[in-house]
Amino acid sequence: MVDKITVEVCVCTECIINGAMNIIDAVEGLRELEGELGAYDGMVDVNAGPCLYDKSHTGNAPVAIVNGEVLLKASQETVMAKIMELLEKNK
Ligand code: FES
Repeated sequence: MVDKITVEVCVCTECIINGAMNIIDAVEGLRELEGELGAYDGMVDVNAGPCLYDKSHTGNAPVAIVNGEVLLKASQETVMAKIMELLEKNK
């Protein structure tokens, strides 16, 4: 059972160039949908911050962390899939 899903997205230059803002937009979109549907209300938090991972990870941007799991070369698809996987565990 997962009480809360926390998504952290790196917004360093390398991660932004490689799509970090798309990931943040996708998670924010899900949060808005949550509010409208009333389902999973408030379960997903998204935070943006500077380099979240080992700074020697050139080539792995963007980096996202979902409930502690590091996703390298993350995309909105991989992050959303991980969120859905965690939400499914809550059913
Ligand atoms: S370069 Fe973005 S996590 Fe380090």
